Amino acid sequence: MQVCLDNQQMTDVVSTWKIQGQVIAFVPTMGGLHAGHLSLVHQAKANADKVVVSIFVNPTQFGENEDFDNYPNTLEQDLYELEACQVDAVFTPNKEHIYPDGFTSHLKAGSLSQGLCSNARPGHFDGVVQVVHRLFEIIAPDIAIFGQKDYQQLLVIKQMVAALSLPIQILSGAIVREQSGLAMSTRNQYLSIEQKQQALKLYQVLTELKQETLNGRNLATAIQDAKTILSQDFKIEYLSALDANTLKSITDNTSKIAILCAVFLGSTRLIDNIIFNQG
Ligand code: PAF
Repeated sequence: MQVCLDNQQMTDVVSTWKIQGQVIAFVPTMGGLHAGHLSLVHQAKANADKVVVSIFVNPTQFGENEDFDNYPNTLEQDLYELEACQVDAVFTPNKEHIYPDGFTSHLKAGSLSQGLCSNARPGHFDGVVQVVHRLFEIIAPDIAIFGQKDYQQLLVIKQMVAALSLPIQILSGAIVREQSGLAMSTRNQYLSIEQKQQALKLYQVLTELKQETLNGRNLATAIQDAKTILSQDFKIEYLSALDANTLKSITDNTSKIAILCAVFLGSTRLIDNIIFNQG
């Protein structure tokens, strides 16, 4: 596995592969790797000849009072895990490589970034599209894989790729859950054992909401009841059922529904979702 510390090393590696006609899949991460990330790596391996993983904690997607300074850094363990998965190259740039002096980006996240996470994290998706675009420029992958847990992010990236006609296929990786149902997340490290126990309620509530929707229960009432249950343990940022393609209200034309939530458990923000076909 090659560890590329700067843009030049990364582009040299990729250029050699391109000359050889290899298909390159890319998994962007901020490190703190867990089984969810590794499942994206396996998906990448199944879809390409060469796999690149980036590890870069992107400052521009964090708000002022967020956890940028404390974001888990487990680089040594991450590299060990990626080597074990037979990843071909890991890109670990620093801030100056991604945002060189004088760098400006006019790139803004598209309409799918509105609402949901953006309400509490204004500018977050602008930061995400800017860093992902930079990484795409440097790595020029054929395929890039993003987890479904960050569902709004996935749609925002797809929208950017379509808007800029980038020749990159975006694949979505299924949510990987702990045995309890809690969606794997780097931020789960912040939870105490007791909080982990409480957190499993989130997926239970989402699963029940899905079932109730399929049973034809009025969604607004079901969501209201679910909020009442969740608010016993969590501070709810949002819990919404939307059209999974447009992230707008469900209409008669909706074929796929997304139930999405963001909640706080103590000071830890958790997001989760469940996506399913309209019955
Ligand atoms: O999902 C993440 O970990 C990040 O938002 C990403 C895509 C690596 C961009 O920094």
